[in-house]
Amino acid sequence: MLILKTAAETQSACARLRGEGRTLGLVPTMGALHEGHLSLVRAARAACDVVVVSIFVNPTQFGPNEDFSKYPRTFENDCALLEREGVDLIFAPAVEEMYPAGASTFVLVEGVSDRLDGASRPGHFRGVATVVSKLFHIVVPDKAFFGQKDAAQVAVLRKMVRDLNFPLQLVACPIVREADGLALSSRNRYLSEKEREQALVLHRALRAVEEKAASGERVSSRLIEVARGVFAKEPSVRVDYVAVVDPDTLEDVPDIRDSALVAVAAFVGTTRLIDNVVL
Ligand code: PAJ
Repeated sequence: MLILKTAAETQSACARLRGEGRTLGLVPTMGALHEGHLSLVRAARAACDVVVVSIFVNPTQFGPNEDFSKYPRTFENDCALLEREGVDLIFAPAVEEMYPAGASTFVLVEGVSDRLDGASRPGHFRGVATVVSKLFHIVVPDKAFFGQKDAAQVAVLRKMVRDLNFPLQLVACPIVREADGLALSSRNRYLSEKEREQALVLHRALRAVEEKAASGERVSSRLIEVARGVFAKEPSVRVDYVAVVDPDTLEDVPDIRDSALVAVAAFVGTTRLIDNVVL
């Protein structure tokens, strides 16, 4: 397993592999890897000849009062996990490598970037789209793998791939959960034992919405009420949003006709967690 720190080395290593006729799968991550990340690696391993994983805590997607500096960094452990999964190449640049002094070009996917997490975290998706564009240019993958856990991120990046003609297929992989339903997240390690228990309310709220929808309810405002009712029973958790949206545009859908994304975000203590389900 090769571990490279510069864009130039990674670009030429990937170009060489592509030149040999091998297909490349890219899994972008910020490290602090868990089974959710590893599920993407396994999907890439199954679909592509070469698997490239990037590990980069991307400063441009964090707001000024967010957790960039305290974001968990577990590089040695991440490398060991990826080695075991048969990853071929890790790209782990420093911040100055990705954003050299004076860098001033950004990618903004207008509209969709202002919804859900983009509304709560201004500038977040500009940072995501910019860094993922850079990774796409460095690796030039045939397929890139992302988790449905970050459904708004998938919507933003799908649109970016279309709008900018990136010659790749974006693959969205299912949410990996703990046995009790909590969606795996690098941020779960911020939770105290008590908060870990409270955090289950996100999954409970989504399950209640699923049940209500299964019983025939199609009016989004009523489904949102159901979710808010579940959250109300866990008053220590502060809801950021509960939304029923079109999975591609992230625009609110008043009545569910085809598929709809039910997405929730909430603060458990100071930790912001997200989860979703597609109806
Ligand atoms: P990060 O939060 O490290 O997540 C990396 C990838 O793992 C994302 O595609 C995310 O959706 C996926 N993932 C996280 N938890 C998951 C779970 N429980 N089940 C399935 N997939 C899961 O998302 C980012 O990093 C960054 O924004 C990035 C795309 C790397 C750009 O900086």
